[in-house]
Amino acid sequence: MLRGNDRGSYTVPSPRLYPHQWAWDSAFAAIGWAHFDPTRAWLEIETLFTGQWPDGRIPHILFHRRDADYFPGPDFWQTEWTTSISQPPVWATAVRRLVEITGDESRLPALTPKIDASHRWFHDQRDPLGVGAIAVAHPWESGLDNCPVWDAPMNRVDVSNPPSFERRDTGVVGDASQRPTDDQYVQYACIVKAIARDDFGPGPFAVYDPLVTAILARAEEDLAWLSARAALPTKAAARAERLRRGLTNHLYDEDLGRFVYHDARADERITCDVIGAYLPLFANLDAPLATRLRAGLQERFRANHPLPSTSPLDPLFEAKRYWRGPTWINTNWLLADDVCGTDPGLGQATVDLVRDNGFYEYFDADTGAGLGGESFTWSAALCLDLIARGDAT
Ligand code: GLC
Repeated sequence: MLRGNDRGSYTVPSPRLYPHQWAWDSAFAAIGWAHFDPTRAWLEIETLFTGQWPDGRIPHILFHRRDADYFPGPDFWQTEWTTSISQPPVWATAVRRLVEITGDESRLPALTPKIDASHRWFHDQRDPLGVGAIAVAHPWESGLDNCPVWDAPMNRVDVSNPPSFERRDTGVVGDASQRPTDDQYVQYACIVKAIARDDFGPGPFAVYDPLVTAILARAEEDLAWLSARAALPTKAAARAERLRRGLTNHLYDEDLGRFVYHDARADERITCDVIGAYLPLFANLDAPLATRLRAGLQERFRANHPLPSTSPLDPLFEAKRYWRGPTWINTNWLLADDVCGTDPGLGQATVDLVRDNGFYEYFDADTGAGLGGESFTWSAALCLDLIARGDAT
């Protein structure tokens, strides 16, 4: 699978639907590569960092080829060859995993300062209220593009002067009910244009996101581990601590027993019951909090094929639509270590799901049917890792 999606120095997430290099997909791909081709794994990460902007941001897409059929391409973003937003920063975590798997530390002196700059960019550019948490500037920056939490803030986006464009994704995934709606695409496009008008600053959309904050908190810990090995001091451990405090002080809801999102522009909390509300488990939280989150998942995310991306008990749950209900392999990988008590364990259930249904982008949590793009890179890469780390056979 990975070899089939290999374009030499980067791996496409899915050949027809996503024909370029995506940031968090690439980090996940590298973890898969590390299990059978360490040199190729390091190349994947190094290629990702060729897209780094001078201000430190790792763009969410690198368009290595101009001819591939994809919307929105670099012209629409008004950039040379990347997008202008980032994605959940899992690359420090991936690099740590690469060191653990391959034993090779020789790339760390070059990579560590670049990772450090990419993390500092989030703190500098994505915390408009200075609360110690991360606000995404576009739903695509969250990695969970059409998750229901974005509905309210997206409906506040000014769409009075929409740019003209033609979608390409629905030509690849024939069933439009598995993809975001046309109205959402207009909103996505308007935010992209507003960010360019803001000179690639944050733009009009700013929603504090517990998933991205938690991933960065964990990534800061992993960066501290890497920088110790590279003998290059960073402030990553202190930043991790600040993020953990920001998460619990700013985004934890004691009554709900889970995390919430916060629209910084409208000063409104968003409490949909989605997988991101539990993802802070990945950030090594205090035990009582973690116990409460696990209990919430077990109670409200029950499915034949866990973990659905939105709770089936939430009114906005949709079984087949992208991030509004289906099960995804990467969120399961992020939580597999922490969420036990299901039978079989989450790691095994994840590998079984892919083995029985194929390397799809996402899966119907009830029937297990594969949905969205085919030959999906991270579905393969992360199953390899789940097996190698003993979470599944
Ligand atoms: C979709 C997903 C995003 C992923 C990208 C490429 O946009 O929502 O998380 O990175 O596809 O696979």
